[in-house]
Parts: sequence; structure tokens; C-alpha cells
Amino acid sequence: MLVYLNGDYVPRERALIPVDDRGFLFGDGIYEVTRVVRGRPFEAGRHARRLRRGVDGLRIDLPTGMEDELTAVAERLIAENGLGDGEATVYMQVTRGAVAPRTHQFPPAGTRPTVYVGAQRFAPPDAVRERGAAVVTYPDIRWGRCDLKTVNLLPNVLAKQAAVDAGAFEGVFVRDGTVTEGAQTTVFAVLDDTLLTHPLGERILPSVTREVVLELAAELGITTYEEAFTIDELRGAATEAFLASTTADVMPAVSVDGAPIGDGRPGAMTRTLGDALARRLGRGD
Ligand SMILES: Cc1ncc(COP(=O)(O)O)c(C=O)c1O
Repeated sequence: MLVYLNGDYVPRERALIPVDDRGFLFGDGIYEVTRVVRGRPFEAGRHARRLRRGVDGLRIDLPTGMEDELTAVAERLIAENGLGDGEATVYMQVTRGAVAPRTHQFPPAGTRPTVYVGAQRFAPPDAVRERGAAVVTYPDIRWGRCDLKTVNLLPNVLAKQAAVDAGAFEGVFVRDGTVTEGAQTTVFAVLDDTLLTHPLGERILPSVTREVVLELAAELGITTYEEAFTIDELRGAATEAFLASTTADVMPAVSVDGAPIGDGRPGAMTRTLGDALARRLGRGD
């Protein structure tokens, strides 16, 4: 498997990062995951824009336009690794680079960021989608800039592990009684036939799939509000809920902390939006 590291295409086992890399030492970097269906990166432009917003937000000195060059890098990796059919994902990471000695403040001007891109086969969780996913709640103990896709993912790791430990699919963050988002997904709920999801801002990631789902909902005439809902509403009044992300697509959420959401089965609006997204992805019929 070939990967890209700092301008070179090298076998994965030869792609090595120095121990001084600030991604390793501080989690000082950002990343992107893009879905690839039949060789085509889905919404590559949106991912590139979010990557640019991330490096700018962290003041990482990535050359102008590099985010678009990385889409071309991804396309080359897809082709050279024989991933032009079926499903795959592309992972990109940019860190503030590697400099000794270790200092908290930024390294000297001119330090080159570390840039890594890899592509791999991907098997979507379609079996879970059929029956619907269990989710568990987890306190949202994250920092104040959840809108930046940084590699600092410890709360997300802990939330996801709590889900796995409970035999569930996803950990859902709750802050002051409000559902913010999942460990790796956006959360949507249906209340009074209306689709709700947490508004953009510093509490959630501006998810690419969230944006696409909102577009699809508008096309389908579904009334949608970017408005937060509470965990009590998810447990009580919600008739449906689903998760959305690059790797989960639209994933029905059918229980929370062991209690059913709605009738405990994937809902009609969820299925409609899931089918619409599958068509957009090029995986529909
Ligand atoms: C915290 C969080 N929210 C939402 C998402 C979904 O984002 P996207 O649709 O861009 O994959 C992710 C994806 O990794 C995430 O980590």
C-alpha cells in the first residue's frame, strides 16, 4: 500500500514520523476523512475547505492551495492502490511539524508542517443500518473549539469505547442536558414530524454529511430546524433519530442507554434520507 508523506509516495511501512512531531507530542494537528465510492472522493471540495479552515484556525502554516493539491494526491493514491472500484476512505493529517527541543509555543517560522495522506478499503456498516444502532450517552467533556477537526480526540475515544463496552454503536455527547453530537457523528432527531440537529458553532464539528443531509431534507420538503434538543426529548418525545457521518452515512439510532427511541425501529424519515444519501454517494440503486 502506497501512502503520501511530505511530498513523497512511499510504502506504508516506510512512512515514518519523527518522535519530535508535534502531532505526536501535543496532538497539534488536524485531519480529514473522505469517503470514496467507485474511485470518486465524495464532496472532496467541502473536505478541502474544512481542512483549510482547520489549519487556519490553528495557525498551521500550510501553503496556500495545498488543500486542493491533497485531493489530487488522494486520487493518485486511490488509483495506485487499486481502490478505483468498491468503497474506500482517504485519511489526511496535517501537523505543525517536527522540531526539537520540545516547546509549547510554535516552532520557528518556516518549519514545514507534516502532511500525510493514506487510502484504504472500507466496508460500510450496512448490517447495523438494517436493524438500527444502539447509542449510549457520554458527558461532553471536550474543549471550546469542537468546530475544528483536531487530532485531539481523547473524549471521543473514551465516548466510543463506552459505547463499545455497552455493545452499542456510538457514544453521544450530552452537555448541560443538551445533545451536541456523537463521538464521530452528527445526531439528528425527529420531534413533531420536524427534523432537528444541533446548530453550528463551537460546540460541534461542521460535518460534511450533516450539510448534505440538510440539503437532501430541503429537497425532500422535510421541515428542518438547526436547533438543539435535550437528552430527555431524545429519550421521550422523539419518534426517530439517526446519526450521520462520512463512514456511517445515515445510521438509524434506535435506542439510547438501553431504552428505545420511538418504537425502537428505524423510522420512515430516516429511511427516506438514508436512501437519498445513498443515491448521492453513488451507492444507491
Ligand atoms: C465529532 C464528529 N462529529 C461529526 C462527524 C461527522 O463529520 P463528517 O460528516 O464530516 O464525517 C465526525 C466525523 O468524524 C466527528 O468526528
